[in-house]
Amino acid sequence: MNKVDVVLGSFYGDEGKGKIIDYLSQNADISVRCTGGNNAGHSIEIDGKKFAFHLIPSGILNKNTLAVIGNGVVIDPRVLIEEIENLKANGYSTENLRISDRAHVIFPYHIEMDKLQEELRKEDKIGTTARGIGPVYCDKFERCGIRIGDLVNKKFEKQLRKNIENKNKIFEIYGHNQVNASDIIIKYNEYAEILKPYVADTVTLLHNAIQENKKILCEGAQATLLDIDFGSYPYVTSSNPTVGGVCTGTGIGAKYIGEVYGVLKAYSSRVGEGPYLTEQKNEIGDTIRELGHEYGTTTKRPRRCGWLDLVALKYASMVNGLTGLAINHVDTIGKLDKIKLCVGYKKDGKVSMNFSTDAEYLADCEPVYEEFEGNFGDISNIKNREDLPENAKKYLNRIEEIVNVPIKFIGTGAGRDAMIIC
Ligand code: IMO
Ligand code: MG
Repeated sequence: MNKVDVVLGSFYGDEGKGKIIDYLSQNADISVRCTGGNNAGHSIEIDGKKFAFHLIPSGILNKNTLAVIGNGVVIDPRVLIEEIENLKANGYSTENLRISDRAHVIFPYHIEMDKLQEELRKEDKIGTTARGIGPVYCDKFERCGIRIGDLVNKKFEKQLRKNIENKNKIFEIYGHNQVNASDIIIKYNEYAEILKPYVADTVTLLHNAIQENKKILCEGAQATLLDIDFGSYPYVTSSNPTVGGVCTGTGIGAKYIGEVYGVLKAYSSRVGEGPYLTEQKNEIGDTIRELGHEYGTTTKRPRRCGWLDLVALKYASMVNGLTGLAINHVDTIGKLDKIKLCVGYKKDGKVSMNFSTDAEYLADCEPVYEEFEGNFGDISNIKNREDLPENAKKYLNRIEEIVNVPIKFIGTGAGRDAMIIC
């Protein structure tokens, strides 16, 4: 039986999951998004055209791949429809799109609430993407959420009015504009018409596909250290982007999962607030940002940049059970003269590989670095790991040795094909 492969972010997101997903989905019958919403942003360049996907699995670009938005995803219909229209305008069919009837719907008041809560946090902001992600998951778990099935079957008006009445009370307390239910109902009824043909019981669909020996690829969004349980809480997103979210976000049982690829960059980056031990708030961080074009796909914010942290990577490997690593931007880090790799945390004079997501613990830790030679040169056309320059090999071998997970993919440049498959 074909196993379900999974691609996950290992750190704080933006590891270049899209590139690995793009490669793997060429052989996938079905490509699935499991968690998160349009806080994610995967950009893919095909035939000189750049596509930014926030909700639709990028597998949609292969005409034989079914693209499924799983039940764990939260959907802003306006954004989803924009994505559908953009694909059509560029000559791609969206016939292969399926949306879970159980996925929850983002309404404008979720977005307003996200912004208001950030304001109220004052100097303790999380730095959310302001896409309504936290508030919509709150409604889901509070059990007042509205699901895609309710939307397209036009069974959402009563619940929506009740929700808006309650939210308006909160908005009133904070002197925020009131939300008008009727306007939203008209708009969302229009959205429902457009989305209806795509809605399906994706749990049964995926289960049947497994029985028929179809190849399924699960596309992770966000990343391990942004996980609500395993990340640096509260500076996290409101879902489980780790491997468990694949099961709960799709209805696929754990025994069907095969490869779990952890994607990372040869350096690290983070958007938003929260601890980040190997951050380089200096010329090196600035250089990495420019060389790696580290600006957000979703919010365009400049990303914080720094060295690769193997203590954190080992933790990501532990909580996800990683079976392989995919390292992007090896070409980018190779443009520096000297590269540092964090191989331990020093606390109270002792060096260990003990990771923690506790900001107070981390504040007392100091990263311990090993230094490597850079200047890899142009590696974008290399197709075998053995043909990489010695400096690159030394760096990669050390990562593999410490984390004890084999490297399966090496990103060597910006292009779709600039990758070594090990
Ligand atoms: P991809 O899939 C990087 C971060 C936000 C913020 C925190 C909470 O492109 O890797 P949220 O809007 O989710 O409530 O924000 O999580 N964040 C991401 N950072 N890449 C992402 O997705 C992210 N999705 C959320 O910046 O710090
Ligand atoms: Mg992104």
